[in-house]
Amino acid sequence: MRLDKFFTSSGILSRSQCAKEAKAGLITVDGEIVRDPSVNIDPVKNTIAYKGEIIGYSEFVYIVMNKPLGFVCSNDEPGEKLVFDLLDRKYGRLDLFTVGRLDKATDGLIIITNDGKTAHAALSPKHHVEKVYEYSLAVPLSEEDRISLEKGAVLKDGYETKPCVIEKTSPTEGRITLSEGKYHQIRRMFASVSNRVVSLRRVSFGKITLDPSLLPGQYRLMTDEEINNFKSRD
Ligand code: URA
Repeated sequence: MRLDKFFTSSGILSRSQCAKEAKAGLITVDGEIVRDPSVNIDPVKNTIAYKGEIIGYSEFVYIVMNKPLGFVCSNDEPGEKLVFDLLDRKYGRLDLFTVGRLDKATDGLIIITNDGKTAHAALSPKHHVEKVYEYSLAVPLSEEDRISLEKGAVLKDGYETKPCVIEKTSPTEGRITLSEGKYHQIRRMFASVSNRVVSLRRVSFGKITLDPSLLPGQYRLMTDEEINNFKSRD
């Protein structure tokens, strides 16, 4: 594999950045400065370092973002602001997609990757990956409605939602934990008991939680621990 491919595929440097940084002597292969980004390396056998830090090889890119309100989780939707518009240009050629979608009016944690197999498994109902959302409602939620929604709501299209958990933190606010993700599910669930979601934020996806240091619109590569958690199915 070419040295620049090693850096681009893991989302660390673009091809042109790699050429520049290599020229500046900031990249080493097995401790030797390599200034030619086209040299062939073996990501398993060789130790690649950038600015003195060893870089583990990753075939895929895994990003966590604090999605801001008003952006859509789509690769192409004319007239809309896309979450991908927020990413650095170096990610442009990596065929990234969001793992599931949040509504335009929902903010919080989204995962962006090009690892289709892991994304598919994380979304599969078979694996019951829990997603937690903080909600606020237009009308106080009665205990009766909370309990009935937990057992399963019948949506307008007749779909019956799976059991979920709703913890109230105030009459109109709380957290809802779902292990499925139908279109507009939470908004439609609350609508089924004549209520209305005023705000909705995803705060976790499986074991991955929204990083409080990420302001709306900010993102970062997942840590190795987060990648392992995202991939693990237990
Ligand atoms: N449920 C919704 O209604 N909207 C979201 O964005 C996520 C879950």
